[in-house]
Amino acid sequence: MTLDVATTVPVELGERSYEIEIGSHVLANIASAVEQATTGARCVIITDSNVNSAHGETIRRHLNEAQIQHDTIEVAAGEKSKNWETLQTVTDKILELRLERSDLVLAFGGGVVGDLAGFAASIARRGMKFIQIPTSLLAQVDSSVGGKTGINSQHGKNLVGAFYQPSKVLIDLEVLKTLSKREFRAGYAEVAKYGLIKYPDFFEFLEHNHKDIFAHGPALTKAIAKSCQAKAEIVAADETEKGQRALLNLGHTFGHALEGYTAYDGSRLVHGEGVAIGMMLAHQFSNRLNQCAMDDVSRVEAHLKAVGLPTRIQDIPGDLPSVETLMSFIAQDKKVKRGALTFILTKGVGNSYIADDVPPSEVSAFLSEHLNS
Ligand SMILES: NC(=O)c1ccc[n+]([C@@H]2O[C@H](COP(=O)([O-])OP(=O)(O)OC[C@H]3O[C@@H](n4cnc5c(N)ncnc54)[C@H](O)[C@@H]3O)[C@@H](O)[C@H]2O)c1
Ligand SMILES: [Zn+2]
Repeated sequence: MTLDVATTVPVELGERSYEIEIGSHVLANIASAVEQATTGARCVIITDSNVNSAHGETIRRHLNEAQIQHDTIEVAAGEKSKNWETLQTVTDKILELRLERSDLVLAFGGGVVGDLAGFAASIARRGMKFIQIPTSLLAQVDSSVGGKTGINSQHGKNLVGAFYQPSKVLIDLEVLKTLSKREFRAGYAEVAKYGLIKYPDFFEFLEHNHKDIFAHGPALTKAIAKSCQAKAEIVAADETEKGQRALLNLGHTFGHALEGYTAYDGSRLVHGEGVAIGMMLAHQFSNRLNQCAMDDVSRVEAHLKAVGLPTRIQDIPGDLPSVETLMSFIAQDKKVKRGALTFILTKGVGNSYIADDVPPSEVSAFLSEHLNS
C-alpha cells in the first residue's frame, strides 16, 4: 500500500463493487449518488437524534435542491437502538411510507445507524439499495465499509445480521467537526488498528501526524483514505470472514470483554476505548508468548497515550473486573476449539496474525498479572 492520498477508494467485490468518496462537503454530492444508485424516485434518511439535529437540515436541503423526494426516520442516539424493537419500528416505517424496492435507504449517522439501517435495508422488501453516509470517525474508517450490518441480541453484540453491501459510501469530513473529542479519539483507535494489523508504514505516518489529524488538518483526509483502503483491501480478499478479515478483530476479543463487563455503559467505556486497551493487551500478551518484542509493545503504548487513549484496564473508571468475569466474556466472544481460543496476536507493529491455539489458562494467567500490575 502506497501513501498517496486517494479521494475515491474502490471496494472490489465483483458485481457488488462500490466506491467510497472522501472529502470536505461531499454531502453536496448526495443527489448524484442517489441518481447513480437507483432508478427509484424516493429515498428515506435513517439517522439518530444527534446527527439529525446537527446535519439533518443540510442533507435535506441538498435533496430538495435536486428535487429528490425524501422522508426521515429518526432513532434514539446510542448503542441501545441496535435492537429488535428499533429494527422493527424502522422496517415497518419504511413499509408504511410505501417505499418501493427500487427506492433508497440513506444510512446517515455513526456505526449504530449504519449497522441498523443497513440491516433494515437488507430485509425490507427483500432488499433495498442503500448508501452509507457515516458521520462518526469510527463509522467513516470502519463500520460503513465492508457490508457487515446487524443488531445486538440479548445473547450478545452483533449476533443478528447480514452481509449486505451498500451502493456507495459518502464520507464528508465536515460533519466530524460536531463529533465530541472523546468519540473522535475512540474512532482513532480503529485508524491505528490498520497500522498495527499489517501496514507498518501507516503506523509510522500516524506517529508523525497525529496532531494534524486531531486538528482536522490535511493528514485527517489521508488517514481516513488509508484506513478505507486498508479495510477495502482486506474485505475484498475475504468478504465473509473465512480467513484474514479476522485480523480486523485485533484488540476486539479483550475489548468486547471490557465492554461486556461495563455493560455497554458509554460513560465508562466506548467501543474504540475498549479496542485501544484491547490492542495494548494483545501486544503485551504476544510478548508474554515470546512473539512480540518489548520495544514494539512500548511503541504502541507510547502512541496510544500520546493521543490520550486508555491503555490499561485500570484506566476504566469504576470497579475492576475479576479475571473470571473477563474470561467468561472471552469464551462467549470466541469459539473454543478443542479447548483452545482463537486470538489475533502480533509479531510486532504491522505484523499481526491469527492464532487458533491459545490455551485459556495462558489468557487468564496474563490477565491476572495485568490486573495486579
Ligand atoms: N459493521 C461493522 O463492520 C462495524 C465495525 C465497527 C463497529 N461497528 C459498530 O459501530 C457501532 C459504534 O459506532 P460509533 O462509534 O459511530 O457509535 P454511534 O453510532 O453510537 O456514534 C457515537 C455517538 O456520536 C454521535 N454522532 C455521530 N456522528 C456525529 C456527528 N457528526 N456529530 C455529532 N455527534 C455525532 C452519535 O449520535 C452517538 O451519540 C457499534 O455498534 C459497533 O458494533 C460495526
Ligand atoms: Zn471495532
